[in-house]
Amino acid sequence: MKEIEPKILSKEEIERISSGINEEELIEFDKHALNSFYEALTAIEAKEPGSSWVKVIDKEGNVKEILDATSMNWTLSLGFAHPDVNYAAYQQMIRLNHVRYNVLTPARAKLVNKIAELAPGKLKGGRVSLNNQGGGLANEAAIKLAMMASRGADHFGVFWGGYHGSTLVMTTATQPMHGINRFTSFGHEHFTRMPYPYCYRCLWNYKGGLNGKKDPSCNLECFDLVENYILGMAPKRFAGIMLEPIQAAGGQIPAPPEFLLKLKEVCEEEKVFLIYDECQTSMWRCGKYFTITERYQKELNLDVSPDMMTFTKGIGGGYPLGVLVASPKIKKRFGPSEEHTTFSSDPLSMATSLAAIKVIEKAKYGENCEKMGNKITKRLLEMQEEYEEIGDIRGPGLFIGIEFVKNKETREPFTELSEEMILLAPEHNLYLGPSMPILTATGKLRRRNVTKIKPPLVVTEEDTDFILESFELTLKDALKKVK
Ligand SMILES: Cc1ncc(COP(=O)(O)O)c(C=O)c1O
Repeated sequence: MKEIEPKILSKEEIERISSGINEEELIEFDKHALNSFYEALTAIEAKEPGSSWVKVIDKEGNVKEILDATSMNWTLSLGFAHPDVNYAAYQQMIRLNHVRYNVLTPARAKLVNKIAELAPGKLKGGRVSLNNQGGGLANEAAIKLAMMASRGADHFGVFWGGYHGSTLVMTTATQPMHGINRFTSFGHEHFTRMPYPYCYRCLWNYKGGLNGKKDPSCNLECFDLVENYILGMAPKRFAGIMLEPIQAAGGQIPAPPEFLLKLKEVCEEEKVFLIYDECQTSMWRCGKYFTITERYQKELNLDVSPDMMTFTKGIGGGYPLGVLVASPKIKKRFGPSEEHTTFSSDPLSMATSLAAIKVIEKAKYGENCEKMGNKITKRLLEMQEEYEEIGDIRGPGLFIGIEFVKNKETREPFTELSEEMILLAPEHNLYLGPSMPILTATGKLRRRNVTKIKPPLVVTEEDTDFILESFELTLKDALKKVK
């Protein structure tokens, strides 16, 4: 294959597209952008290929280097512009970029096979569907498959605090955004929302849930309620139940593995498909295993594996990809018009996904994630002793949430502090992540008090020192502002 040589445009013309922006272009953009939600700093380039740092510019053209502890919404597991991933993109690009959705390419075949091999528990050796958009569509594919395979059932159980995407249907499956979304989502008659096991804020008033663990005396009453929904309390028979085994956007909240085990058992008995949305928790984000399900299986010897699982975020290596993997026991497969889009077979992100998976396996970035995650969490636990406002710290791996409270005893959410930290962190050359707003039905903010540290899996020792130092400086500044 030859190197790429532009035919019509000069190399300089093409380079200018992505290499910088001037004030006039920014002013024009602000006039014309229909999506009004963007930050003041414009991202320009990786500090170095494959690092956790990005160069940004402000409106005056000042350049700043920021360590991104959000991995750009938990997606750039290998950092910015990783050379191996981009070389895979390049190799794919010079051969083929777009194909019809029913045309097979080597990258698509190899990725489907690889995901079937990596899938945990009863999903191993399963069937895989790919899309070139992300998690929302992967979840919709799961909903479709569950309906196709469940003899007429078309109702789904979802959870309070869950996030499954922002298509019109997935905004229904997701935690309602009353007052923020000025439109109605579709398909309400297809979903019943149930309480999620949030051990730090237990609805059954167990007070001892801390740092991702349930109160030792808890009897999982939360499960009893969910079980009743499955056994007939919901308005219709469930075709499936969709949940994040650790709620991410909702506030980094792990469901107790015992809850998942019981849920799996009752779903099996009642022939309800259990669908895990591991869009955020897969791709070694939670430590040395590909998914959190695999972690529970290997470390706790609990097979909580579902009938279907979805992935996005890091799985594309920084390029858009959504994946559904279904148990080989589900015999139904999608027909021609049941699951496709124009771009759903484009090989670019399939090639980058395979490269990213291989890089993580070969360079053992899962182990790095575990090690760096433990180091950050250890120091945060020390800070928890020092600061009244650090209520709860939840992991594992580089999937860390810090829940801020006004008072450790009452656990009153300290939303203003968390929000202030997100705003102030770039002043300390750090991006921190917010949690999703939890709103009342009239749109009043109940809480948004979990701040996230989820840097690329490639973070170095120095990077983690920097994150911790900047986090604490940001916390001190934010406390001065809000107290
Ligand atoms: C757990 C989870 N599921 C689904 C999605 C939706 O993915 P996408 O935005 O790619 O549609 C997200 C995105 O944040 C997510 O965090």
